[in-house]
Amino acid sequence: MRKDGTRFWAYCVTTAMRDKAGQMRGFAKVSLDITQRKQVEDELLESHAFIQQIITSAPQGIVVYDKNLRYRVWNPYMEWLTGLAEKDVLGHQPLEFFPFLREHGVDVVHHRALKGETLESEPIRYQLGPDREGWSSGVWSPLRDSHREIIGALGFVRDITEHVNAQERLQMLSRRLLTAQEQERRKLAIELHDEIGQVLTAVTLNLQSLHKDATPKGREQVEECVRIVQHAIQQVRDMSINLRPSLLDDLGLKPALRWYLDQQLQRAPFEIELKCELTKGQVPSDIETACFRIVQESITNILRHANAKKVLVMLELQQNTLSLEICDDGIGFDVAASRERAIQGLSCGILGMQERAEFLGGTLNVESATGGGTRLRVIFPLAVASPAISQFSGTRPEGNSDYRA
Ligand SMILES: Nc1ncnc2c1ncn2[C@@H]1O[C@H](COP(=O)(O)OP(=O)(O)OP(=O)(O)O)[C@@H](O)[C@H]1O
Ligand SMILES: [Mg+2]
Repeated sequence: MRKDGTRFWAYCVTTAMRDKAGQMRGFAKVSLDITQRKQVEDELLESHAFIQQIITSAPQGIVVYDKNLRYRVWNPYMEWLTGLAEKDVLGHQPLEFFPFLREHGVDVVHHRALKGETLESEPIRYQLGPDREGWSSGVWSPLRDSHREIIGALGFVRDITEHVNAQERLQMLSRRLLTAQEQERRKLAIELHDEIGQVLTAVTLNLQSLHKDATPKGREQVEECVRIVQHAIQQVRDMSINLRPSLLDDLGLKPALRWYLDQQLQRAPFEIELKCELTKGQVPSDIETACFRIVQESITNILRHANAKKVLVMLELQQNTLSLEICDDGIGFDVAASRERAIQGLSCGILGMQERAEFLGGTLNVESATGGGTRLRVIFPLAVASPAISQFSGTRPEGNSDYRA
């Protein structure tokens, strides 16, 4: 206690005072006011408890590794996600529990985080016991001390099952929509051709029989009617073929593309070259349809926007993939800006092509530069493998500690 009666934290050293004969003569006492130090200690404890609280209540997994890739933090969310308790995990390395991380490249991601990169690991499909399965993904970044030295890695892991399921539902819906659209087009094409086409043909025949008995003036009128009806027949035929070229179903992609491109050549101010060695049945029919529609939209875009002199359409079978490329030497465009416009709903051609490609597990890539032409490339996988399920077992498998940090 101070002289004024206030209390304070003190560090006290009391020493016994002895005379030459070793007899105790009294005590010497030194008191050090450590109120400030105590205050700092309390604040530290409080902030530690605060951080601990955040880690514990976070609605996502928080993981910390040290430089040797040993777990230092494993929060309750991670316990829920993996079924592994903090006490069993701390001090161990990830591949001891999750050997499958290696095949997903997550071990490489961890190492790159320890080298200073921030990056996301690919989604992993997991199974926890018989009743729970889902998807998880993580973001990893280096953990630095106050001198900016890397002392470990920090990971935020999330269960993305809901998100993946919603995405899958959306994809399935869009796929159904596209299939229904194709079926509807096919039906319409047949009806136009078989119903209206035949009615118009019957009208022509009737007009021709009227022609015989008509007056010279009447004949002229009948001839004019025949010309109009025949023009209508041609239009109906073109509409029917454009809706769904029967060539695509009957002979396959190459003849259908050949026919379509020849038709476009009649009105296109550019040359079109088709390089395609595919034969019927070499690729699944849904991929053929997607390729045909993508070429249709690309050629329409080139006609509308490119001002090109030469166009190349190329289809190539590679190992387990089909690659489709459409290149033009036109004015090009700003791909990022047009993507923005598409997201705002101002255009949908390229977005539609991308969706078609993605439904079938493919990817679409557009490269363009102002004045430098445009190259659109789609890759379709020909055999889609379903993702492997990784087992979050909740126990530590034996003999899997071969991880080299
Ligand atoms: N081959 C090309 N050459 C030059 N510009 C192109 C080419 N293809 C696309 N573009 C540009 O990209 C934009 C987006 O194309 P997209 O096909 O998505 O939409 P759109 O053709 O404008 O409209 P729609 O929704 O009817 O297809 C176009 O407006 C055009 O500016
Ligand atoms: Mg378009």
